Amino acid sequence: MIIIGGSSSRDLAKDTASLLGCGYVQAFSMRFPDGECYVRVDRESLDDDVVIIQNTHPDANIVELLLLQDAVRTLGARTITTVVPYFGYARQDRVFKPGEAESAKVMCDIIGRGCDRVLTVDIHKEDTLRHLSCRYRDLKAAGMIAGYFKGRSIDLVFAPDAGAAGRAKEVADALGVPHDHLEKTRLSAFEVRIAPSATSCEGKDVLIVDDMISTGSTIVAAKQALAEAGAKSVSVACTHGLFIGDALERLRGSSLDVVVCCNTIESSASLISAAPIIAAALREE
Ligand code: R5P
Repeated sequence: MIIIGGSSSRDLAKDTASLLGCGYVQAFSMRFPDGECYVRVDRESLDDDVVIIQNTHPDANIVELLLLQDAVRTLGARTITTVVPYFGYARQDRVFKPGEAESAKVMCDIIGRGCDRVLTVDIHKEDTLRHLSCRYRDLKAAGMIAGYFKGRSIDLVFAPDAGAAGRAKEVADALGVPHDHLEKTRLSAFEVRIAPSATSCEGKDVLIVDDMISTGSTIVAAKQALAEAGAKSVSVACTHGLFIGDALERLRGSSLDVVVCCNTIESSASLISAAPIIAAALREE
């Protein structure tokens, strides 16, 4: 097996290869003056099972991934596994209003065509992957997130909305503490309202778990609801830290105790490595 790291996932790809003890090639990529992407995998041939690790966010990374799939196929890859640590466009997983594109399906169509198998990490909704024309599996980061908080004082785990309740439960179960979810209403891309928590958090150390943080609006509102419910401390963990604009600075400045995410998107907050779950999945098959 040989791992090819795309530009979005250099550290993650390198860590995964080192856990597997297999070959690693950092793909070369650059942009032409007109913005078009160029990629090269510096090998004469690749008569091996090849794993590409590359995100599909932001848009430029999608093109790089498609070009990498073509490059390794041309080099003779025996099989191609595409690991998409953060699967962009997964939130537009249906046509909400007439005339919209079903973006998540489009991404599945184009990515699935270029490989034999796709692995994702905590995709927004696992059901989205049914659109892939190849084998697939979504890996769960809950165990890694719980591992990070083992030994820290956490009394209660909250999901900021019903959609994240399952993830919060998995983390809470691994930590051996209770869990609950808040009720969220999204007012706009940058504004959410979270109803007061029905569960008392009086004097408790609380952890919020979500699949992703984008603008940070959800977490800011959730933190406020939990603080008003009496929480002693509020920490937050997510799988994918997009941190749009100054979201990370805003969260760090909002008296949250810990803000941490997985390295599916690499940033200064991505202290939890997804490499062990990716390596384990690659080892199994
Ligand atoms: C929504 O369904 C997701 O699970 C996240 O809660 C949401 O995408 C976070 O977005 P933001 O940080 O912009 O509130």
